[in-house]
Amino acid sequence: ITVPSPPPALYPTWYAPQPSNVFPNLSLPEGFIFGVATSAYQVEGATKMEGKGPTTWDWASRQPGFILDNTTADVTDLQYYLYKEDAARAAAIGITAHSFSISWARIYPFGVAGSPLNQQGLDHYSDLIDYHLSVGIEPVVTLFHWDTPLALVAYYGGFTSPQIVYDFVNYAITIFQSFNGRVKTWYTFNEPSVICDLITGFPFNSFIAPGVNSSTGSYQCAFNLLNAHAGAVKAFREMGISGEISYKNDDVIGIPWRSNSSEDMAAVERHASFGLGLFADPVYTGDWPQIVKDTLPESYLPRFTDQQMADLKGSADFFAIDAYSTLYIKAPPDGVTTCQNNISDPAWPSCNVVVPYDSKAGWAAGLISDPASSWLEATPQLLREYLKQLQERWPSNKMYISEFGMDEPFESLRTEMYQILNDVTTTNYYMTYLGEALLAIHEDGIPLMGTFSWSMIDNAEWSHGLEPKFGIQHVNYTTLERTYKRSAYALCKHRTRHS
Ligand code: NOJ
Repeated sequence: ITVPSPPPALYPTWYAPQPSNVFPNLSLPEGFIFGVATSAYQVEGATKMEGKGPTTWDWASRQPGFILDNTTADVTDLQYYLYKEDAARAAAIGITAHSFSISWARIYPFGVAGSPLNQQGLDHYSDLIDYHLSVGIEPVVTLFHWDTPLALVAYYGGFTSPQIVYDFVNYAITIFQSFNGRVKTWYTFNEPSVICDLITGFPFNSFIAPGVNSSTGSYQCAFNLLNAHAGAVKAFREMGISGEISYKNDDVIGIPWRSNSSEDMAAVERHASFGLGLFADPVYTGDWPQIVKDTLPESYLPRFTDQQMADLKGSADFFAIDAYSTLYIKAPPDGVTTCQNNISDPAWPSCNVVVPYDSKAGWAAGLISDPASSWLEATPQLLREYLKQLQERWPSNKMYISEFGMDEPFESLRTEMYQILNDVTTTNYYMTYLGEALLAIHEDGIPLMGTFSWSMIDNAEWSHGLEPKFGIQHVNYTTLERTYKRSAYALCKHRTRHS
């Protein structure tokens, strides 16, 4: 037998495997959910099948240059038809839950309350849920993961209009009625600050309302989205739907760059209040963060009525966070004056959110950034700090890491399967991250009851197209064959070791 020589290094040596954080004596709490996550647009394909209406993303992905590699998600993983294979493959490696989203436009092709309901779409998700249950995978349902029915944008500007509240609650009620009793964990929205483009400034990504260009759009969106969330949760509770409901938070509080600097602390507070807190505060306290109210006039930021506040307060049964990364934050040299003086600038809302920061974080293996990657600040070594901050500010009895993961750097440059499947960087990341999560549970008393790896399979990464590889399974986009990567085995081993 000839032993093949080692493959040529396709990535810099600083990506070499690092020892994982393994704590053999620590076990996962009873009932801990070991999940994977996906979303409808990113994995389903079949964008025109069985009565689905077009969404903002179906439209956007057809605009030349909008998707970096010019791919649409018309096929992507074709999970719409291959969901049985995917659920069974997840079950086979010990995954206990799949967090997926329902595409609103498959249920109401025009999105609007009172418009035709597409029974085929409803039947599809019903079958999908049943199949997951039959193979022992808990279905975790997100009602909205960014794919707005296009008609809603044409009719009234999508999330910039309060009309969306009524239409969303109507859609939510249809889903609750249809799947009550079969789903235990529900989310209204995925990553609200991304939906409302708070980080980049509203017109930039146009995730939700392509063509709607308005400097106040982000805040109108946040206001309507929060009311839609509260309305859906109110309906959920009044209808006596079984299970628990929340939404998937994103972004971070932030860590002051200089721990003794009051300017940096103030910048952290601004960052937290105009990002994560813009949604979490209303859901916990019923109102916007104080600093946001103090800064923004009513013409920018609508104020909640007493009824809206009452509906919002306590409208999450548990705290879910897509905890990919955290940031060190440093105050800008001139405070925030440059932004505040120019409120007619369409980019103005984002000035209050993005304070200049330096990321000295890197992740556990010592990585700082990979220029080829869209994902720069994966920071497992700060996870415990991150979770502690969240628990202090928005205390809960139960927390989920509703997404975490990374795209394997340079994977698309690899040509051989044995290179592609050996996703060492992602594997290191997962092992270090899960080690920190175990410590957070045992040392810090964080009530973490589940983690969901992004992603179950490679998929369409929004405006980055099919190039980034977040999957723990490779997908051959010609044959649609799925193959477990090294990270899938590592996750599986971690679960058995700590169960
Ligand atoms: C979070 C989003 O929910 C998901 O859709 C996206 O693919 C991942 N982040 C990775 O960027």
